[in-house]
Amino acid sequence: MRNRMIAGNWKMNKTYDEGVVLAQGLVDELKDGTGSVDVVVCPPAIDVKGVAEVIQQANAPIAVGVQNVYWEEKGAYTGETAPDMITTVGATYCIIGHSERRGYFGETDEDINKKAKALMAHGIVPISCCGESLEVREAGKHVEFVVEQIKKDTEGLTIDDPSKYVVAYEPIWAIGTGKTATADDAEEVCGAIRKTLAQIFGQETADGIRILYGGSAKPENVGGFLEKEDVDGALVGGASLKADSFAAMVRSAM
Ligand code: G3H
Repeated sequence: MRNRMIAGNWKMNKTYDEGVVLAQGLVDELKDGTGSVDVVVCPPAIDVKGVAEVIQQANAPIAVGVQNVYWEEKGAYTGETAPDMITTVGATYCIIGHSERRGYFGETDEDINKKAKALMAHGIVPISCCGESLEVREAGKHVEFVVEQIKKDTEGLTIDDPSKYVVAYEPIWAIGTGKTATADDAEEVCGAIRKTLAQIFGQETADGIRILYGGSAKPENVGGFLEKEDVDGALVGGASLKADSFAAMVRSAM
């Protein structure tokens, strides 16, 4: 009932020209289609238009997203990007609440909640990230920590179409470190996330929401995560920066 999703977060990598080259590489790699897998790439905001144009020209089954948004419509918010600025350059997804934004830029669950509401009001699909630090994991409090994040991040949201709201579970200790959570670790938390979503939005909606795993996911390990009932795909950092490795992950999900 849920299409799998493989989403690439390029983070602060790839200049405009490099982004266009990577997008062309992905179009070539995925020219035979992606089956029922939803594929999303999230380049730096300044690359989005160029990447979207390459994909549109090829009519490739790849959606484009951004990595952040501000919830206001417009105004004196230097450095920020409004929701309709995202849609007008061809992006339809937006990552929010990534641990790097929470950690380096002080984003709170309240901010993430406002961002989700602003995005959904503009028809942009949030990919809302959550996940615990190593300290929380070692204290054995990871499930309750993530459940609390989910409750705060979704407070007051209305989800009419569950395919239009995505959660990404990314244990912070596994991001960019080469340390992956095991598939069982991921399932333990993703299962708790789905249960929490069911309590908030009802079982049917929860069953339609994609929950991705992120944290050193790569072609060699993605298959193991995808076997788990509550893991519907991956949010990929490092391995999304090369067309062949990202495409290999898409093919594993097909
Ligand atoms: O958004 C992606 C995650 O932070 C994972 O990054 O695959 O480089 O560990 P990574």
